[in-house]
Formats: sequence, C-alpha cells, structure tokens
Amino acid sequence: MLSFVRATRPALLLILISALALAGCESVFTPISPQAQSIANLATILFVVAGLVFVVVEGTLLYFVLRFSRGRPAGETAEVETKNERRIEIAWTAAPAVVLAIVFIVSMVILRFLVTQPAAPGMGAAASAQTLNVRVVAHQWWWEFDYPDLGIVTANEMHAPVGATLLVSVESADVIHSFWSPVLGGKIDAIPGQINRTIYTVTKVGDYGGQCSEFCGVDHAFMLFRVIVEPRAQFDSWVRQQQAPAATMTGHAASGEQMFMNGACIGCHTINGTIARGTLGPNLTHFASRGTFAGSTQQNTRDNIVKWLEDPQALKSGNLMPNLHLTPDQIQALADYLESLR
Ligand code: CUA
Repeated sequence: MLSFVRATRPALLLILISALALAGCESVFTPISPQAQSIANLATILFVVAGLVFVVVEGTLLYFVLRFSRGRPAGETAEVETKNERRIEIAWTAAPAVVLAIVFIVSMVILRFLVTQPAAPGMGAAASAQTLNVRVVAHQWWWEFDYPDLGIVTANEMHAPVGATLLVSVESADVIHSFWSPVLGGKIDAIPGQINRTIYTVTKVGDYGGQCSEFCGVDHAFMLFRVIVEPRAQFDSWVRQQQAPAATMTGHAASGEQMFMNGACIGCHTINGTIARGTLGPNLTHFASRGTFAGSTQQNTRDNIVKWLEDPQALKSGNLMPNLHLTPDQIQALADYLESLR
C-alpha cells in the first residue's frame, strides 16, 4: 500500500496542483449565465456518480487484491466452485442500467433547458432591452461580432450589458470552427453555409476569455476572443462610440489614412464612411477602442501595431495579412492612423 502511494505521488501531486489552479481561474465551474450554471451542475452530478462507481469498483478490487496477496486463508482449498448466480448477474446488469438511465434523464432535462429559454423569442424577433442579437462569424483565425440591430461590426471582443439575454447566431466564413467561452455556456459549432443558434444570459460584469474549440488549421490555438460584460450605461456609451463614423484625421494620422485608402489595405478592411469596404479582414472603424487584436492574441499597443505592420507573420504566423514591405516612415504613419481610430 505504501509503495503504491510512493509510486503514484507525482501523479497525485499533479492532480492536486491542477485542481487548485482550476479553482482560482475562469472555467466551466465559474459560470456567469444560467446556461453555463446548468452545465456546471451536470458536470458535478456526473462527477459524483462516476466517483461513487469508481470507489465501489476500485474498493472491491483493492479488497480482493489485499485479501489474497498473502496466499489463501487457512482452510480454503484451491478448488473454487463456480455456478450460476442469477441474482448477482441480474444485479450487476441492472445497477449500471439504472445509473445510466438517471444520467440520461438529467442530461436531457438540462439539454432542454439550454435550447428552450422562455426569455428568448428567437432570432428574427425584435430585440428588446433584455435581449440582444449577436451574429458571430468565425474566420481563420479571428472572430467577427456583428450586432445587426445596432449597426455595429467589430472583432475579437464581444460586448454585452449585464442582465441581457444574448441571442447568438454562429456562422463561418471558411472552415468549421467552434465558439466557446467556458463561463458563458456550451460550445456551438460554426459551420460554413449553416447558421447555428444559442442563448446566453449574462449575469456578472467582467472581462472573460473565449477560444475556438474545433481544430480549424494552423492557427487554431490562436483564435481567441473576449467577452466583455459591462453595466448598462457603460455598454450604451460603447454602442454610441461604435456607431459614430470614423474619426477625422489630422497630421501624421491623416497621411496614414491616405496611405491606407490608396494601398492594399482597403481590399480586406472596412472603415465605415470611407471607400474601404473589404470584408476579408476585421472591420477597423474603431480599431483603437479594442484592447486586443490578431484573434485577441496581441495587446493593442503601439509596439505591437508597429511589429504587426513590419511583418504580420512574425507576430502571429498563419494569418491572412501579407507582408506589405512598408518603409519605417509608412509604418509610423499607419500606426498613427490606426491608433486614432477610436
Ligand atoms: Cu477556429 Cu479552431
């Protein structure tokens, strides 16, 4: 027994450290929506049921291993009589069936709750103060967030007012991705040519993480997003800012804007109210208002913008932006422009 503990000590230590780490950070066990809460509840129920089964089965195994490890007790012969024990056979068939039936029923009840929220009239219905339509479009390798009722298109950071029910439709511009923020609720696949819908009611202010959870190519691991849940007043001011036309440029930023409009940039990016109407890359109208860029993998700092413009592939390999071989002066002017797009 002691040698068993000694042999498995590294594994036990690893499990303990993982559990402690998980307890302190964002995960499916720190839900911010009733949908995620019900999934966390299901996970807990399954863990307890599986734990009980584990203890009973392994306990029985350990008991027999220890009992017979030092030879047969006195008086027992090597001859073992086996016969049909019908009652035992029925018991070990019925017990797993009952356990699985309970797990099935609990899973179906929760699954039903996830797809039939009374607060959700469905997409297409007019969004009320309590509901918000969000169209999520997955791209290799970034996320587009489109608020059709508000006329806002942004990237990698989804804003929502606390208390709102998000009626989310998920699409893909290229291959299959999967939209998942553990604190928000279940994963939902982004499938080309198809619209998948899901519902999340956000109940806690905060800045949360999300990640593509379907292998979608070389940059799959770098396809992150943020979920920013804020008080209603703060969300409303974000909406007003995003709805405003692109800022008017002066000085260096103006020459950066000119370069942007005369260059290859407009083939892929949109700046509202200008000739830039490309849709391959993110809409940059209010680029400077975002905290991150490049699939939410880079902090939106001057330094990173310059590095990105110098060589996009060096900062994040696999993205679709080509190296435009810009001169240092051009890069500084473009960076001024991008930083002025508040
Ligand atoms: Cu997109 Cu993985």
